[in-house]
Amino acid sequence: MSWSELTGKLVQLGRPHGTEPAFVNPPVSRGSTVLYESMDAMRARSAQRYEHQLIYGAMGGPTQALLEEAIAAIEGGLHTQVVSSGLAACTTALLSFLGAGGHCLMPDSVYGPTRRFCDTMLRRLGVDTTYYDPLIQEPALQALMRPATQVVFAESPGSHSFEVQDVPMLARVAHAHGAKLLLDNTWGIHVFQPFAHGVDLSIQALTKYPVGHADAIVGAITVADETDWVVLRDSVVQMGQFASPDDCWLTLRGLRTMGIRLERQSRSALEVALWLQDRPEVQQVLHPALPESPGHEFWKRDFSGATSLFGVVFHESYTAGAVEDMAAALAVFGLGASWGGYESLALPTTGIISRDARPMTGGPALRLHIGLETVEALIADLDGGLSVLRAASA
Ligand SMILES: Cc1ncc(COP(=O)(O)O)c(C=O)c1O
Repeated sequence: MSWSELTGKLVQLGRPHGTEPAFVNPPVSRGSTVLYESMDAMRARSAQRYEHQLIYGAMGGPTQALLEEAIAAIEGGLHTQVVSSGLAACTTALLSFLGAGGHCLMPDSVYGPTRRFCDTMLRRLGVDTTYYDPLIQEPALQALMRPATQVVFAESPGSHSFEVQDVPMLARVAHAHGAKLLLDNTWGIHVFQPFAHGVDLSIQALTKYPVGHADAIVGAITVADETDWVVLRDSVVQMGQFASPDDCWLTLRGLRTMGIRLERQSRSALEVALWLQDRPEVQQVLHPALPESPGHEFWKRDFSGATSLFGVVFHESYTAGAVEDMAAALAVFGLGASWGGYESLALPTTGIISRDARPMTGGPALRLHIGLETVEALIADLDGGLSVLRAASA
């Protein structure tokens, strides 16, 4: 499906249903206590906790349910659960399918806070994590699987190093050993259909492109199977996981324009990436749509497009400090973490990455998020930044 077809779909998804006259957009429904007319009605409603029904505010209400319906449709899944953040979506999904004595396989390129969660909380709870090369091949992955392996996690492309993973192969191996495949699909929203490639649980940091305006933090977990849904939903309710109606409303509002934003941002990102590729200071551009980018063949096989976040690796003759000076000197690009908003951002990534199985190679690196500014303004800004890089390294 193209970006413009997605845009057409996003006009309709997650809108109020019913035959009564209603506002175009759902109102924000806030609340805790729900009043029932009888004990029977209260009991009947409580039994519907897997059905996105209003039971008690902490278990979600109408605003959350409409966002869940929209995200399930974008991801091609059956049910979505919204949670408080993208990180909470990762940790909640992991806690739902891992137990003491269990084993988890994590790509070395996983988002840093997910890695910390494995190395601290999961370890404390008796779960062992092995980091694997995100470009691992099937026999090597088979060799890492243990009888206790409950989860194979993937993030494609990887945080900062942008390796696109062979997700169908990961699914094949995971399922042959009775493990679940969890995917952080935040970069691949809409351009990677997780369930068509064997994923069991797909995670979205809705904070990024769906919110799209850098003004809310929300996460989502989507499943394609009723049994997985019951396990996930029970864990979410037991842990008191929740996303506020106001933040879900902002996400629904942002979602309406996600297709047209991404149509423009992804095109601009590729133009900027191609410009950078020809610059003498640049050793490699880590953009999945470029043939030199790691795992490009899987991107070409499995993705229908790209989004607007990529990496730039400079030659070893430049220092990490010089890249920081460059990033700080940019005027159109903001200096900051996160991504997916309407604004362009630059983030030096050298020194903030931990890798065990697949070390980062090359010189210092920068992550760029391309927003809605003109390509001319972005390139002029980077051109100025490269002068600062050269001067700082002279
Ligand atoms: C790939 C990925 N997953 C998850 C997250 C976490 O999302 P949030 O900031 O909503 O917790 C991020 C945030 O940068 C991310 O880049």
